[in-house]
Amino acid sequence: MYDPFLWVAERVGGRDLRSTVLTCARGRTVEIGAGTGLNLPHYPDTVEDLVLAEPDPSMRSRLDKAVKRGSRSARVVSAPAERLPFDDASVDTVVSTFVLCTVDEPETVLREIVRVLRPDGQLLFVEHVRAESPLLARWQDRLAQPWRRFARGCRCNRATAHLMAAAGLTLDTVDKGSWRAMPPIVRPLVAGRAHLAVGHG
Ligand SMILES: C[S@@+](CC[C@H](N)C(=O)[O-])C[C@H]1O[C@@H](n2cnc3c(N)ncnc32)[C@H](O)[C@@H]1O
Repeated sequence: MYDPFLWVAERVGGRDLRSTVLTCARGRTVEIGAGTGLNLPHYPDTVEDLVLAEPDPSMRSRLDKAVKRGSRSARVVSAPAERLPFDDASVDTVVSTFVLCTVDEPETVLREIVRVLRPDGQLLFVEHVRAESPLLARWQDRLAQPWRRFARGCRCNRATAHLMAAAGLTLDTVDKGSWRAMPPIVRPLVAGRAHLAVGHG
């Protein structure tokens, strides 16, 4: 149901957001939690080697089909974002779109991203986050459990941008936007690029 659920949101802004953020992708690129492959059409030619990691078998089978249908070559692996099968400092770009809300241990995943990124590497992200508005944040807290059951583990109230900074990433371009056509509790978005803070990598 993932693609039908997002169908409208993708058409009223989601696709444009993916495209804008992925413009910066370059070199060896690893996408975590690649889902059904909605980012695939947006990777620019500056990406030299694309690896799509997706641990969920049903998502992965859709992803395999999307890669076969598409024009870009990519390798699909089943690795969870907590344990990426790459050496330290070996990846130029990590991509995470709507994944850091779902993983059980975001701190572990962010540590893993920091580990695999080259010193001049980058994390490109689009994530829905905890609302800055106290009123909406309270609703996110109230509805967190039912939403998590409905949306297969997604936490609508996670302060993902703060977790990125705490993991040693500097967020250098960040757009705060709205995930249009989605329920209000998952509308607040951050999208942009982060690099390793001085002292990391
Ligand atoms: C909301 S979907 C986002 C899919 C895709 N990134 C997109 O932008 O459409 C969340 C994805 O994260 C994946 N996921 C869940 N836990 C994960 C983990 N520990 N490591 C990597 N991916 C995970 C899910 O299987 C799912 O494909």
